[in-house]
Formats: sequence, C-alpha cells, structure tokens
Amino acid sequence: MIELIERCVLALTNENDWVIDPFGGVGSSLIAAIKNNRKGMIIDRDPDYIAIAKQRVQAFQDGTLKTRPLGKPVHKPTGKEKVAQIPIEWTNQT
Ligand SMILES: C[S@@+](CC[C@H](N)C(=O)[O-])C[C@H]1O[C@@H](n2cnc3c(N)ncnc32)[C@H](O)[C@@H]1O
Repeated sequence: MIELIERCVLALTNENDWVIDPFGGVGSSLIAAIKNNRKGMIIDRDPDYIAIAKQRVQAFQDGTLKTRPLGKPVHKPTGKEKVAQIPIEWTNQT
C-alpha cells in the first residue's frame, strides 16, 4: 500500500530529497518517493521482489497502477456484508 508510506515520505522529507529503503520489497516506498517529487532508491535481497518493484514503478509511470488516494476515508462496514454474517454452518439451521 503506497498511501501508508506516502504519509512518512511527506512528513519526513522535502521535495528533491532522497528516500532510501534498504528493505525495499515491491517498491511502495520508491513509488511514494517518485509520486511526491523525491528521489528514490531501494535495495532488496530478493530479485523477484525487485522485478515486481520495477513493474510497479513502470505501471505507476504509465498511470495504470491502482493506488488508494491519500486521505480516502476508511470503509465503514454496514454489518450486512457476507463477512459480517454468522456462517450457516455455525448455526443449527443446516
Ligand atoms: C516488509 S518487506 C518490505 C516492504 C517494503 N518496504 C515495501 O514498501 O513494499 C521486507 C523486505 O526486506 C527484504 N530483506 C530482508 N532481509 C534483507 C537483507 N538482509 N538485505 C536486503 N533485503 C532484505 C525482504 O526480501 C523483504 O522484501
């Protein structure tokens, strides 16, 4: 999720600063940096994660990466969602 790290990037850095993440994973911190006019660098020991990070950066630059808008309110469940219901298997109505 980019929005989470984006808050840190905005709080702790200024435009054109470097954001260096030595445990960069799939690149969320790097994308947050690029998105907010910072310079970014990630390191990760897993080449598969680096490959995904490259794809995600490319998708961000192409405008196709899905991101949660900064400050979007948290979803408030109504209680009617299926996940909020007691499974029928847990009742005596089987
Ligand atoms: C929790 S994930 C990082 C998530 C990342 N910050 C993001 O925003 O997507 C931790 C990462 O650290 C990497 N890692 C763990 N030990 C490492 C090491 N000694 N050197 C480099 N990377 C390491 C793992 O491969 C993993 O991708």
